[in-house]
Amino acid sequence: MSSQHDIIQFVLNDKVVSVDFNANPELKPTTTVLNYLRSFPFHKGVKEGCAEGDCGACSVVIAENNEGKLSYKTIDSCLVFLPMIHGKQLITIENLADSGKLHPVQQEMVNHNGSQCGYCTPGVVMSLFGLYKNHHNPDREVIEDALTGNLCRCTGYQSIIKAAEHACSCVDADKFKLHEAKIVTLLSEINQDKSTVEINTPTQNYYKPLTLQDTLALRRKYPLATLISGASDTALRQTKKREFLNEILDISDVAELKYFVEDEKDFKIGAGLTLERLKLHSSEKLPALNKMLQIFGSLQIRNLATIGGNIGSASPIGDTLPLLIAYKAKVKLQSADSERLMPFSDFITGYRTTDIRYDELITAVHIPKLQADTFVHSYKVSKRKDLDISTVSGGFSVQLEDGHVKEIILAFGGMADQPKRAAETEHYLMWKPWTRANAEHAMKILLHEFTPLSDARSGSEYRKLVAANLLLKFYAETSTPGL
Ligand SMILES: Cc1cc2nc3c(=O)[nH]c(=O)nc-3n(C[C@H](O)[C@H](O)[C@H](O)COP(=O)(O)OP(=O)(O)OC[C@H]3O[C@@H](n4cnc5c(N)ncnc54)[C@H](O)[C@@H]3O)c2cc1C
Ligand code: FES
Ligand code: FES
Repeated sequence: MSSQHDIIQFVLNDKVVSVDFNANPELKPTTTVLNYLRSFPFHKGVKEGCAEGDCGACSVVIAENNEGKLSYKTIDSCLVFLPMIHGKQLITIENLADSGKLHPVQQEMVNHNGSQCGYCTPGVVMSLFGLYKNHHNPDREVIEDALTGNLCRCTGYQSIIKAAEHACSCVDADKFKLHEAKIVTLLSEINQDKSTVEINTPTQNYYKPLTLQDTLALRRKYPLATLISGASDTALRQTKKREFLNEILDISDVAELKYFVEDEKDFKIGAGLTLERLKLHSSEKLPALNKMLQIFGSLQIRNLATIGGNIGSASPIGDTLPLLIAYKAKVKLQSADSERLMPFSDFITGYRTTDIRYDELITAVHIPKLQADTFVHSYKVSKRKDLDISTVSGGFSVQLEDGHVKEIILAFGGMADQPKRAAETEHYLMWKPWTRANAEHAMKILLHEFTPLSDARSGSEYRKLVAANLLLKFYAETSTPGL
């Protein structure tokens, strides 16, 4: 395995920057992109509001070389460790204007009075820039989605949405378009041989492999290293819990883990695929997953977060987890010399624990294609529709035969210490006619099947009631009217 030592390189706006962590002891491998930028006098545009991915004041845009074209994504810089942008272009608010002429998104914010106190404005503008680079004449839904991760407490969103509509109606001919070939060349010159970036400082070791083979070798060699994929969960251990992560294995740029393919039987999803890419792939093929991803975090979060990370966090309120149980998904686990495929329902073993071995990695999720007369639906109930954690979530599937339940899976998040099936309720419904009377009786069983927590999000009784009502909703959405 060849390695590049202690140095990362990226393009900051339009210049290649090298960061040597041993020559700059004030920078750590886990210094966030936000804190790195704000350490310069001329990069104070990016703001810290929450340091946990909720406000978007720290939004920046990252451009990646995608086979000779740049693809742009807005991210929260407070959640991104510096080596994660190795080999990418980092675009900040300071570089949007072209020789003193405002970028169209900036100009339209001025034209529509899109700013009052201005604290959120650089982040909002970067989200609009990401929108501008990805969509021509976006509809209202797309614009709102692009702004979900940006909190503005004083302007209100109407003027910002108007600015977005006007800016994105122009043809993309900004300076970034004009200089695309030059940036692609600069990016392709960084780390051409795909060698692992290895940073060893007196207090931290950071490994960033770019191939699956190197990743599996490093996983075995450093079993205690904190594994990160998008880091949208793990970064909070540092920014909020003030934990010091002394050894990190960063798999965010392993291209072999970023795929969505299908064969006759299954959809196969690489563990490193971001949830935003998965949202796009799933829109027609896996509609229940797509529905859940539409209200998952924000665009900035989905541009970082991966399916492997959602599963790996094993959170009782991880939104894809109940659904993967309902889909009867399998998880692929690989080590340097083995691989196994296990039912996802057996993978989570307890509160945030899984069956993964010290030298293994989740490399893929396989979702079987649905059999005839099978319906899979997803539900998320939270205090706010957008950018909120589930109070209760559900992934349900039912297979019907002659109006009777041939198979049913009712998997819930937020009801126990891990995503869990309502086994008694399922048992009651098996082989019964799929009728409202039976669904209502099943609701009564469900009300007693779980003893969920009461916490800041809701009381235990509310959670039980929501779970039962979701079952009725599922029945209503999958039954023949009148039964
Ligand atoms: C503002 C905000 C909003 C959020 N909203 C939601 C939401 O709506 N719904 C929701 O479910 N979650 C949400 N999350 C949590 C988080 O974004 C998701 O769990 C996300 O999918 C984690 O993916 P990641 O790649 O960023 O994981 P990481 O932070 O990189 O990793 C998370 C865990 O998984 C492990 N892991 C990662 N990849 C692998 C792998 N390939 N093999 C084995 N283990 C692995 C890591 O070691 C770590 O323990 C939110 C987080 C934030 C900050
Ligand atoms: S500072 Fe709030 S999202 Fe980053
Ligand atoms: S302009 Fe004040 S928070 Fe948005």
